[in-house]
Amino acid sequence: MTFLDIDPACKALEIQGVEILIGNQEDTNFLHKVIKSKGPFDLIVDDGGHFMSQQITSFQHLWPALNDKGIYLVEDTHTSYWPGFEGGYKNPNSFVEFAKDLIDKMHSWYREDDPNFPFDPLAREIGSISFYDSMIVIKKDIKDPPASIVSQDGKVAFSSRIIETKNRVSIFKKPKFETMYFSDELDKEQMFLLRSSFTGCAQHLPKTCRHRRLRVLWRLTCGPFP
Ligand SMILES: C[S@@+](CC[C@H](N)C(=O)[O-])C[C@H]1O[C@@H](n2cnc3c(N)ncnc32)[C@H](O)[C@@H]1O
Repeated sequence: MTFLDIDPACKALEIQGVEILIGNQEDTNFLHKVIKSKGPFDLIVDDGGHFMSQQITSFQHLWPALNDKGIYLVEDTHTSYWPGFEGGYKNPNSFVEFAKDLIDKMHSWYREDDPNFPFDPLAREIGSISFYDSMIVIKKDIKDPPASIVSQDGKVAFSSRIIETKNRVSIFKKPKFETMYFSDELDKEQMFLLRSSFTGCAQHLPKTCRHRRLRVLWRLTCGPFP
């Protein structure tokens, strides 16, 4: 375990198996030295100065040093609402607003060419963002981009079309392939079976659908594949 604190007096609290490094959580050179000598980490807890610039700078520099499936936890995030901590209600510089933006970044591969919604590489890295009273927890979960599965003449293939849709027309709004097919030919239970059992291979399709895939062109969108 590695602890960082700006107060040199903390060094006296060091016990076996624990290292206390003295420095400022806003000093990016210090953070990178820590990452180099101690990283990467499975769990990062920011319970430091609670100022907005401290929380945001620390997140920006320490997040890349978090392992896959790791957890980044920020304590006392109510300071986001306090001007005395550089916060304030809806203050765009607050950590709460920064974390709200992360929600959009996590979803940014569903942007459908919206020029106002740029893709952010964090879409690949953020698995979840949980807001608690006074605490925000961000989980790293490296994901493959979502893809469509396309079948034509019995051949199943992945397609990245879901993230390449042009002219901002959602494939969900085009009743061209699966929408017509599913709604016309499958009842709700079959739809559920299809969605829940589909793991990327045609043989996982329920029997009712399997024979149909030979004669219709269908698309199914689903999340990251196992
Ligand atoms: C709320 S206390 C929490 C201490 C410890 N986590 C605990 O639970 O006892 C905040 C700590 O952050 C340290 N701190 C304040 N500003 C800091 C900064 N800019 N960089 C690093 N540590 C800082 C303080 O010295 C203090 O020890």
